[in-house]
Amino acid sequence: MTDFFALETKKLIEEKISGNLHKIQDQLPHVAGNDGIYDDTKPDWWTSSFWPGILWTLYDLTENEQFKNLAQNCNHKIERFFIEHPEKFDHDAGFQFLLTSVFKYEITGDEESKRVGLQAANFLAGRYNPKGHFIKSWDRAPGWVIVDCMMNLSLLFWASRVSGDPRYKNIAIEHADTFLKYGVREDGSTCHILSFDAETGKFIEPIGGQGFGPESSWSRGNAWAIYGFANMYRFTGEEKYLQTAKKISHQFIASLPEDHVPYWDHRVDTIENEPRDSSAAAIASSGLLEIADHVPQNEKRVYKDNASRILNSLSKNYATWNNPEYQGILVEGTGHKPKGNFVNVSLIYGDYFFIEAIAKLNGWNRHIF
Ligand code: GLY
Repeated sequence: MTDFFALETKKLIEEKISGNLHKIQDQLPHVAGNDGIYDDTKPDWWTSSFWPGILWTLYDLTENEQFKNLAQNCNHKIERFFIEHPEKFDHDAGFQFLLTSVFKYEITGDEESKRVGLQAANFLAGRYNPKGHFIKSWDRAPGWVIVDCMMNLSLLFWASRVSGDPRYKNIAIEHADTFLKYGVREDGSTCHILSFDAETGKFIEPIGGQGFGPESSWSRGNAWAIYGFANMYRFTGEEKYLQTAKKISHQFIASLPEDHVPYWDHRVDTIENEPRDSSAAAIASSGLLEIADHVPQNEKRVYKDNASRILNSLSKNYATWNNPEYQGILVEGTGHKPKGNFVNVSLIYGDYFFIEAIAKLNGWNRHIF
């Protein structure tokens, strides 16, 4: 049975996003600062698809055509950009095309969207390094693998499902196994970047990246890993992936402060004056709900209750429900703390995963990721 919190929060989300439609229109937001006004990013920035992703989710939940119309305009913008600039594809093709072309195809059956989604999957698969068994993240560092890419693997599983060609998912499995081997520590913590020799495929070292350091535990990276490995279990039925998702989630949950919203890294020297990352909380809660779907009945409560605790705190302590002019839903997101970029702001992906998790609590099970 859907609980009161889930129903009420869904209503608040609908109100907020409806109020944002004429303000954001078909822009592609990333960050909102103190004024609460979302910026407009380029279509090739990794976050470009989260606003259309929000709109498609709301359309799926409500069947209100306003959401669909705007989502289609955003899809068009992103799809057209990549047709004109295929050199801009990187590993984020998963984020960019799952929440746009794939989402549209899954809801409407539109064949052109399927074709574009498959094309994006081809680009993603083309980034595979067969010696190192990984998908490279960025062209400037062809031996680098980042934890975020665990989320992009869903595009490859989708491509195998709709095309009948297992090569896509085989690449995803190889990549996940490589990350599991080198990027997930015994205690369930993870690091952001793994560096390999792109020629030989040999592992070199972990790199701190957006985390505090190579041995730290970047909270959003952990959240990507929880969700990514839970998905790996859903796609393959391989027990090791579920155990990995559980292990990382236990480390995540054990690292949470009193209000259940993590600091930007679970392992900073001291938490004094360190910012939270509400986006990590939102992503992890959606990942925890994914785990809850796959564990035996007597374990489900552990994952569902922890997801609910996080979501309740986000809604009560970090959401802008009482400020209709403020476009972001969640405050106190942290993008890239080591570089000092996007700290203590609203992040569109934090909003997306919060909405996705609340949708799941309301029974939504479209599984775009
Ligand atoms: N690059 C993805 C992230 O900041 O989580």
